[in-house]
Amino acid sequence: MNRKMLIAGNWKMHKTPDETEEFITAFVARYQERPGTDVLIIPPFTSLDRAGRLLVGTEITLGAQDLYYEEEGAYTGEIAPHMLRACGCTYALVGHSERRALFNEDDAVVNRKLRATINAGLTALLCVGETLTEHRAGKVEKRIIAELTRDLAGVTHDDMAHVVIAYEPIWAIGTGETATPEEAQATIKLIRGWVATAYNDQTAAAVQILYGGSVKPGNAAALLGQPDIDGALVGGASLDPESFIQIADASLDR
Ligand code: 13P
Repeated sequence: MNRKMLIAGNWKMHKTPDETEEFITAFVARYQERPGTDVLIIPPFTSLDRAGRLLVGTEITLGAQDLYYEEEGAYTGEIAPHMLRACGCTYALVGHSERRALFNEDDAVVNRKLRATINAGLTALLCVGETLTEHRAGKVEKRIIAELTRDLAGVTHDDMAHVVIAYEPIWAIGTGETATPEEAQATIKLIRGWVATAYNDQTAAAVQILYGGSVKPGNAAALLGQPDIDGALVGGASLDPESFIQIADASLDR
């Protein structure tokens, strides 16, 4: 199974619509697309419409950082999945650790959001990962499997074609600390093994699993060279077109 690489840039709470336009103009002018690698940018909500218009005619895909699971109604401040599609999104992040920790999203909410994402025809980019305490206590497997089991409850084989998983160890996010390529590979292999048990071998062989947490131009090639790592979910280093291009260029043509 030759899985494509996916290089995703989660901009978090950075960039206005004008700054988004500046980034996309510079990126599109310089980036050489390759058939084995997809690029995804995930700007804040307020930049999505502008980004969607600018990306028409390119192969670069667009995603949202979050969504709400209802279709419409009295939910002040929330954004429905179909609204994201109308802006040109094909992906949505679900269960990022910052949403879980800072905005009290538990697995039940993550599960509802994930199913709403798939039902709306978007691909869900589900984030899982352990804290530093869990990491030090050797509880990585326990934490990851608990998240996967709860977050993917009720998600069918067919639905799994619209799920990408990102392993983001919380202690590696924004800290400059990365899991070693071997550590990241081992945990991602464990995730793929869980998918094989929960679904089947075919689904496990097909699902894209990314690594995220302080991915930079200097460490991208070693991480992306691991057999089970199918791409990167990049925060800080995705804000600059040059460094994001360097990371995308480090992806393999499998
Ligand atoms: P950094 O690359 O800034 O560590 O962020 C990772 C992340 O959280 C991407 O979703």
